[in-house]
Amino acid sequence: MTSTATRPRGARARAAIAAKTLRTDRWWFAPLITVIGLSAWVAYATVRVFMHNNYWVPEHHYLTPFYSPCVTERCVEGAAHFGRFLPGWWIIPDAALTLPFLLLFRLTCYYYRKAYYRSFWLSPPACAVPDGHKEYGGETRFPLLGQNLHRYFFYAAAIISLINTWDAILAFHSPKGFGFGLGNIVLLVNVVMLWAYTISCHSCRHIIGGRLKHFSKHPVRYRAWTFVSALNVRHMQLAWVTLGTLALTDFYVMALAAGWFNDLRFIN
Ligand code: FES
Repeated sequence: MTSTATRPRGARARAAIAAKTLRTDRWWFAPLITVIGLSAWVAYATVRVFMHNNYWVPEHHYLTPFYSPCVTERCVEGAAHFGRFLPGWWIIPDAALTLPFLLLFRLTCYYYRKAYYRSFWLSPPACAVPDGHKEYGGETRFPLLGQNLHRYFFYAAAIISLINTWDAILAFHSPKGFGFGLGNIVLLVNVVMLWAYTISCHSCRHIIGGRLKHFSKHPVRYRAWTFVSALNVRHMQLAWVTLGTLALTDFYVMALAAGWFNDLRFIN
């Protein structure tokens, strides 16, 4: 029998059976749900990013994360915390400084890689189901070699989470000064979930606890690593939950900005 090490590239070591797979369960369900979920989210986010309106609620300083920070000439005064230095062309997202990094952070995420390799590329669609391609090249060639940059996108995502946190703090506002409403809860929950997803990242776990020979000599890093590791086992769930909180937060801010309903206010 040919070993994995000596097997020619692309050759399949598979028993000679006629059936495509012997699995009789609904192995196709998870890839199908993934395609539907990710496609729906990307469609919603794309439409929202290029709408270029209804992203800011001036009375309460609510800013949707899809437009944070707002950096084009088109941005309204209060939403542009970092200046308006990019041209207001339709094709340029108002958060053009951050969205590409967030997209790359998620695209190179270990969990999303598994999800879209299986569901969109069928490589393979499930365990014990043949790959949809004749050849398997792994992540050894361009463009998939770029997946190794994930650690650097993690640093960018951590900075962007700080910006989102700042947005959530600024949102405790009303025309009378301090204010607190349902929008604050929506923004806060989103930010907490974004932090949970970001620090549960596999790269973060390695940055915190990797390359150490003795945990006993680094008790602080060990405690941080233990915390991150506990979150890390929920990384897949957090990946999906944050897609939900991002879309929900954006939709809530859009609804308020468009005047579809008013924010439920608890204080001012
Ligand atoms: S592994 Fe998913 S965000 Fe880093």
